[in-house]
Amino acid sequence: MKGIIFNVAEKAVVELLGADAWEDLLDEAGVVGDYTALGTYDDDELISLVVAAAEKTGHDAGDVQRLIGRHALKHLVVSVEEFVDLDGHVFDFLSSIHSIIHVEVKKLDPASKPPDIEPTRVSTDELHLAYRSERGLSPLAEGLILGAGDLFETPLSVEVLSHRATPPETVLSVRLV
Ligand code: HEM
Repeated sequence: MKGIIFNVAEKAVVELLGADAWEDLLDEAGVVGDYTALGTYDDDELISLVVAAAEKTGHDAGDVQRLIGRHALKHLVVSVEEFVDLDGHVFDFLSSIHSIIHVEVKKLDPASKPPDIEPTRVSTDELHLAYRSERGLSPLAEGLILGAGDLFETPLSVEVLSHRATPPETVLSVRLV
């Protein structure tokens, strides 16, 4: 996983749990930290940090991913500002992850492997996003989507519509509420 994801997770944890919490999590997860945005790190390090945060807070690991994603999205957007129209519709932003943002990420860093987040517009108030990744981090995707709702000041709900293991796919229904 790219270091930028660890960097925005750190920002989210500090925001939610305070300045010392990230250092504690690094210790508990048994990882060194020192993540640089363009570095690539073992996916297991992110999982260990999520598990350590779950133990520390009493939330389950899915909820930790959702919380971190929700608070991390605004920090991720900073690095791709030129591709984001904050005055536009949140569904247009969410649909652009697949065709624009993760594509740009991949262009800038061919070693990165952002997941597939394929959009289908169902109606004016419902969008489906098919998350496909071997990493199985769909709760993180849910959190990032909710963070987009916060950023665009548009209340959203996210619900899992279907899930299959092989090939991996979780379809999320995003609704305006
Ligand atoms: C709501 C919007 C977004 C969603 C739902 C989303 C979803 C995800 C998820 C779930 C991952 C974890 C890796 C995986 O599951 O395979 C990921 C990775 C990543 N995303 Fe996004 N993302 C969003 C927006 C963005 C934005 C705005 C950026 C801008 C920089 C970005 C850049 C990346 C990068 C660099 C990775 C790491 C890829 C790697 O480690 O190889 N994403 N994304």
